[in-house]
Amino acid sequence: MTVQREERAYDVVVIGAGGAGIRAAIEAKAQGAHTALVCKSLFGKAHTVMAEGGIAAALRNVWKEDGWEVHFRDTMRGGKLLNDWRMAQLHAQEAPDRVLELEEWGAMFDRTKDGLILQRDFGGHRYARLAHVGDRTGLEMIRTLQHRATELGIDVLMECTMQTLLTSDGRVVGAFGYWRQTGAFVLLRAKAVVLATGGVGKAWRVTSNSWEYTGDGMTMAFEAGAELMDMEFVQFHPTGMVWPQSVRGILVTEGVRGDGGTLRNRDGERFMFRYVPEFFRAETADSEAEADRWYEDKKDNRRTPDLLPRDEVARAINAEVKAGRGTPHGGVYLDIASRRSADYIRSRLPSMYHQFKELADVDITKQPMEVGPTLHYIMGGIRVEPDTAASTVPGLFAAGEVAAGMHGSNRLGGNSLSDLLVFGRRAGLAAAEHAKRERAAPAADEREVDLAVERLAAPLERPDGESPYRVHADLQETMHDLVGIIRTRSELEEAAVRIGALRERLDRVGVRGGRRYNPGWNLALDLRSLLTVSECVARAAAMRTESRGGHTREDFPKTDPQWGKVNVVIRRRGGRIELATRPLPEMPEELLRILGEQPKPSDEPAMEATAPARVG
Ligand code: FUM
Repeated sequence: MTVQREERAYDVVVIGAGGAGIRAAIEAKAQGAHTALVCKSLFGKAHTVMAEGGIAAALRNVWKEDGWEVHFRDTMRGGKLLNDWRMAQLHAQEAPDRVLELEEWGAMFDRTKDGLILQRDFGGHRYARLAHVGDRTGLEMIRTLQHRATELGIDVLMECTMQTLLTSDGRVVGAFGYWRQTGAFVLLRAKAVVLATGGVGKAWRVTSNSWEYTGDGMTMAFEAGAELMDMEFVQFHPTGMVWPQSVRGILVTEGVRGDGGTLRNRDGERFMFRYVPEFFRAETADSEAEADRWYEDKKDNRRTPDLLPRDEVARAINAEVKAGRGTPHGGVYLDIASRRSADYIRSRLPSMYHQFKELADVDITKQPMEVGPTLHYIMGGIRVEPDTAASTVPGLFAAGEVAAGMHGSNRLGGNSLSDLLVFGRRAGLAAAEHAKRERAAPAADEREVDLAVERLAAPLERPDGESPYRVHADLQETMHDLVGIIRTRSELEEAAVRIGALRERLDRVGVRGGRRYNPGWNLALDLRSLLTVSECVARAAAMRTESRGGHTREDFPKTDPQWGKVNVVIRRRGGRIELATRPLPEMPEELLRILGEQPKPSDEPAMEATAPARVG
């Protein structure tokens, strides 16, 4: 059968229009490729905007000692050395050029007194290296890239959801999906496809992600034969809003702590001093007085344990709340008012100011915020070749959050925006080159198209079926309760069983109405990817019997050097999920030496910032 569908042919189709997707499309187009950029929602609405505090790049504007080697080292240490070293190296080396390029394209970064791009402190970064635009950096990045893409005349397909990759002879030749507004089917033929669909935050109950983040790209790639890697590592950003209930999970930027904010428990104690792990002890102040001295005298906020990497801070907050030292709404306090003037807060953190004022009736220039961990990011994703972002399936590339390797077991804040730019560009370039080698976009296999159509139509054929909203809520409950910050074997196994049962219920999910403007139908379709990726996370987490980065096992609390030598890789074999370990690529001597070097922090920044003066 050939169902009615719209069909278009391109050299390169980029699926996902956050920072990585737009940057990939810009590069592919610049290489002369006929390029389409597919957005699940409106152009410009992407999780990229939730990286509020800045883009990490060793620009050396504030600290002249900074350089790619230090950034590389910080990134590897933040990821507990499980990162793909080559990705971390390329990222650290190329991030400064990508930031400067963004500036050339119109991004309006905050400035130092001397007119250079200002950089702020963030967790796990040895030097203040986050180029930023107040607390709206991701938004500015998207705005700039969007403008550039429009200028280049890239075809933008808005409110279009891709559900299946089409293959021929084992290579990717296009994608199939539907327009959200009309429900009409669309087939995109392509010589190369770049996936940049982001993560899967909507599998959890408390998340900074919005409705689009349902693991689509990982699932499409996995079903097309690509490998997933490091799926056990998910990131709980330590500071999301906890109250009011309706906005629980909305991000509170790490920039608050970068600019001097401190965490306190119900008793007013700066509890982070009790949670400094041996790994970071040499570089962290061991008392409040010492941290304050660095902060006040030396304009240096990087020694405070409030700015340890995110996995450490999220675990500490979790422990405080569990020990009964949390706030009335189950979080901890984040206080910037006692260190910074109201003017400073309003100028540096305008979105946070308005967010708390409007959503919680809290004036953060006078009162502390109540915050707690929120699912923000997944380090795992599609396994790619570091230089080209090529997946293991010919013709398929992946960049940004959907790809694995760059961040190891834990991502440092600010490294996602630079990751998106560095690997978005590389993916676009490699996809365009791949497309040049292919003579024509090969025809799709009609049997694959028929199967894709059948799958799309199925929920509509069961108008009295189970509600997709119920299945989604039960999945979120499962992931929240059993695959959270602290994990145990029995809970992870229980999660896998429950996800299996949800899969059975998915076959009975039904929706009323037609394909036009039908969010229930859209969710019913997204559930397939939510469940696939959730199962991969739970099973990889059960397999890794150690604690590392964004994966903490109560039953295996230590980091195990043997597990430090391997990634967990997941493939599909005969419709089943198969897990295996894969040795980490060997790191060259010169990079090992960089990792081994002890940091030599200097006392003064090379340049003073233009930020308003601090109080007191
Ligand atoms: O806290 C933040 O502004 C988030 C940044 C990031 O995820 O990189």
